Amino acid sequence: MEPRPDESGDSARLTALRALGHEEGPLHVGGVSAAELLARFGSPLYAYDAGVLERQIAAVRRAFGPDVSVAFALKANPSLALAAVARRAGAGAEVASAGEILLAQAAGFTGPEIQFAGPGKSDEDLRIALGAGARIHIESEREHERLATLARTAGVRPDVAVRVNLNASQSGARLRMADSSSRFGVDRARVPSLCRRIVDDGACSLVGLHQYGGSQAFDADAWVRSVADLLAIAAESEQATGHPLLSLNLGGGFGWPVYDRDPTFDLDAAGRGAIELLEAAGRLGAPREVHLELGRYLAAPAGVFLTTVVDLKESGGKRHAVLDGGMHQFGAATGLGAVMRRAYAIVAADDPDASDGEPVSLGGPLCTPADRFGTGLVLPRLALGDAVAVLHAGAYGLTFSPTRFLSHPSPAEVLVDRGEARLIRRRGTPEDALRDQLP
Ligand SMILES: Cc1ncc(COP(=O)(O)O)c(C=O)c1O
Repeated sequence: MEPRPDESGDSARLTALRALGHEEGPLHVGGVSAAELLARFGSPLYAYDAGVLERQIAAVRRAFGPDVSVAFALKANPSLALAAVARRAGAGAEVASAGEILLAQAAGFTGPEIQFAGPGKSDEDLRIALGAGARIHIESEREHERLATLARTAGVRPDVAVRVNLNASQSGARLRMADSSSRFGVDRARVPSLCRRIVDDGACSLVGLHQYGGSQAFDADAWVRSVADLLAIAAESEQATGHPLLSLNLGGGFGWPVYDRDPTFDLDAAGRGAIELLEAAGRLGAPREVHLELGRYLAAPAGVFLTTVVDLKESGGKRHAVLDGGMHQFGAATGLGAVMRRAYAIVAADDPDASDGEPVSLGGPLCTPADRFGTGLVLPRLALGDAVAVLHAGAYGLTFSPTRFLSHPSPAEVLVDRGEARLIRRRGTPEDALRDQLP
C-alpha cells in the first residue's frame, strides 16, 4: 500500500522550489536567474544546480550513517558533469551499460566504486566491465556462466554479487521490478545454489547480494521489510555455502514527489529501520559493506527544464500555449513511462510563486497529442517569449526522452556549480537529423 498523499499541504511545486533554495521573485538555479540562463544558453534548456545534488546525497548519507555507502544511478541522468559532482559528494556510481561504465570512468570513478546491474548484459558490456574492474551484479545463472568464461579469457577475477528477485516484497514501488515472476534478478529460492556455483567455479569472487525492487517507492516500511528479506536470504545462503557475503546492496528506488499530492518518502524512517536490522544482523562496519543506489531521489530536484512560449491561441474557448520544448525533450513530464498521466509541477519562470492566473494547456512542437505537459494548468497569463519551467527535471529527463522523434535539435544542458553556470551538453543542430544515416 502506498502511503497516503502528503497531508502537509506541500505541493510538488513547493517541494521543488524549496529544494532549489527559492524564496521569492523570479526562478533561479544555483543563484543564477532562469532569464539569464536562457539569454546565455538559449531555449529550451536543462539547468542543474550542483548544490541540490550534493545536498540530496548528504541527506541520504546522514539518514543511513557512515557505514552505508550511496551510489548515484547514472541512468537517472547520465551527465558527465553531474556524475563528477556526485563523486565529489562521496557517492559511487551505479551503471547499466558499457556506455555508462565509460561515463563513470570519465567522471573519475574507478574499480568497485562502479557497480553494474541490469538484465541482458552483452559480452561487450561484460568485457568493458571487466576492464574497468567494476563490481558486477549477476542477473541469472547463464549470465554467470558467460561472465566466468570472459573473466578466464581476460585473466581477471571480478567481484560479483547476485541480484535477488525478492518476490514483490518492495510493494511500495510504483514501477515494480521485483515480483513473483521477473526479468530482473534471480528468484530467492535459487540464490543459495547460484552462490554455491559461483564459489565452486572460482572464476568470479562472490562478494554479496544485491536487490532493487523498483522505482518511485514511497513506502519506507515496505522498503525496510525488503531489507529484512535480503538479510534473511544472505544468512540462508551463507549457511548453505559456508561462504561469507560481506557486501549487501539494498537497492533504493526511494520515491521523489514529482506530482501534486505525491507522498513524501520517509528517509529517516528508512535509514533508522535499515540500520536497526543491519546492526542486529552484525552487518555494519568494515570489512562488511552496505550499499544504496539511487537516481531520482538524488537528482530530480536538482534540475529544471526551461522552455519558451512560441505561439498562443484560443481554441474551443480554451487557451493554448505552444512551447519550443516538448515530449521529445522531457518525455517523463508528458507522461512517458508513468503508470498514470499527470502534470509535473510547472511554473512561470519569472513568477514561480503565482498561485492564480488563467487555465492554459501547455504543449510542445510535435505533431502528436501526446506532446503536452498539461491541460488547464493555472499559470499567470503567458505572453509570447515567456519562459516556463518544468520542475523536478534533474532525473529521467533528456535521455529518457524520444529525442529523435521529429528530428528537432536536442536542448542544451547547463550546470550551475558554486555560482558559475557552464555548458555541459551542447545544443543539437538540425543537421543532427542526418547523423549516423547512410543513403
Ligand atoms: C538496478 C537499478 N538501480 C537503481 C535504479 C535507480 O532508480 P531510482 O532512479 O528510482 O532511484 C534503477 C532504476 O531503474 C535500477 O534499475
